Amino acid sequence: MKPREIRRGIYFVGAVDWDRRLFDSLIPLPDGTSYNSYLINGSEKTALIDTVDPTMTQVLINYLDSLKVKNIDYLIAHHAEQDHSGSIPVVLEKYPKAKVVCNPRCKGMLIDLLLIPEDRFITVEDKETISLGDRTLEFIYAPWVHWPETMLTYLREEKILFTCDFFGSHLAASDPYVTDEGQVYESAKRYYAEIMMPFRTNIQKNLEKIKDYPVDIIAPSHGPMYDKPEFIIKAYHSWAFDEPKNIVVLPYVSMHGSTRSMVAYLVGALAQRGVTVKQFDLTVTDLGKLAMSLVDAATIVVGVPTVLAGPHPNAVYAVFLANALRPNLKFATIIGSYGWGGKTVETLTALIPNLKVEIFDPVLAKGYPREADFKALENLAEAIARKHKEQGFA
Ligand SMILES: Cc1cc2nc3c(=O)[nH]c(=O)nc-3n(C[C@H](O)[C@H](O)[C@H](O)COP(=O)(O)O)c2cc1C
Ligand SMILES: [Fe+2]
Ligand SMILES: [Fe+2]
Repeated sequence: MKPREIRRGIYFVGAVDWDRRLFDSLIPLPDGTSYNSYLINGSEKTALIDTVDPTMTQVLINYLDSLKVKNIDYLIAHHAEQDHSGSIPVVLEKYPKAKVVCNPRCKGMLIDLLLIPEDRFITVEDKETISLGDRTLEFIYAPWVHWPETMLTYLREEKILFTCDFFGSHLAASDPYVTDEGQVYESAKRYYAEIMMPFRTNIQKNLEKIKDYPVDIIAPSHGPMYDKPEFIIKAYHSWAFDEPKNIVVLPYVSMHGSTRSMVAYLVGALAQRGVTVKQFDLTVTDLGKLAMSLVDAATIVVGVPTVLAGPHPNAVYAVFLANALRPNLKFATIIGSYGWGGKTVETLTALIPNLKVEIFDPVLAKGYPREADFKALENLAEAIARKHKEQGFA
């Protein structure tokens, strides 16, 4: 495929990875992803914005060859993670005069991760500019979207904001711009939940920081570009700033059906009270879906049987992940079945120091749940519905 021209002399030279199904050996990618790289020709200098994952270096090189790029002056590195930086060494070898432009923190990380020689760098400060002749690049530090060294680039004359992971979506697409907003909303929310949610207060600060830049196009480093930037900015605002909604997330596991029957009962009791529930069987669920549901949920209830004196390991994994993602949850509890005893509640409770939640009394049934257990679940549903109402979660 020929490189797409975004504006005169500005090209998409990234790689679309349709077949990748796992990112960071952790995150499911049901719709693949892309590693976006952009070439900007100025009247005097040429810049390349980020590179691609090292598994797809050749796609970038082929694009540069097809455009007959003889020289790259500036290789802008927004972020040291290898999905964007991994092809920098090959590009530096191909273009011996090219300098990596990044902030001092990113420089250190690129030296550590990719062993790039010290003399190939130019470092820039927040808001510093570099001229390409008729075009100006302004660098905007944006720490923690996704790592501490992350920065963005604003191309002033064209009003294009290159945002790296910020506003990205794990979505392989043949169209350069968003065509199906529903699908991109889903992919971008998955991306936000897994990559951005742990840094919510930094996301808020960075949203504030870019608010006064007039932007015609947002060009992220994953997924399609936004020629209507307000769509994704509005979505990010709601994910990062809004209060939780009247939603309970209910990940559960059950070996022989006792915990499952408690889960089914609680879901019914909550639904009857107008509370939305998202139920996930942890033996088969896509953990990305669980992460997405945590973006706007007010409460998490974990359904878990006791195994070998503690919680079932699938629940441990899910709770550990939820704690790491730091969602804006307000309430939590545990329900489940046990046979003779163990430390299920203590073990799981100790795993959530990051969650600033009020904990409802757990409901534990000895064996298959009986009348008293269902009554306790009914009371739990009532307490959750009441708290959500008191807090005004709609
Ligand atoms: C492999 C295995 C290990 C278990 N270990 C314990 C245990 O250490 N303590 C306990 O109270 N119950 C233990 N149990 C019993 C279960 O917690 C009990 O059967 C419970 O009702 C299972 O709930 P479920 O039907 O939702 O899977 C164990 C069960 C299995 C299958
Ligand atoms: Fe990243
Ligand atoms: Fe990335």
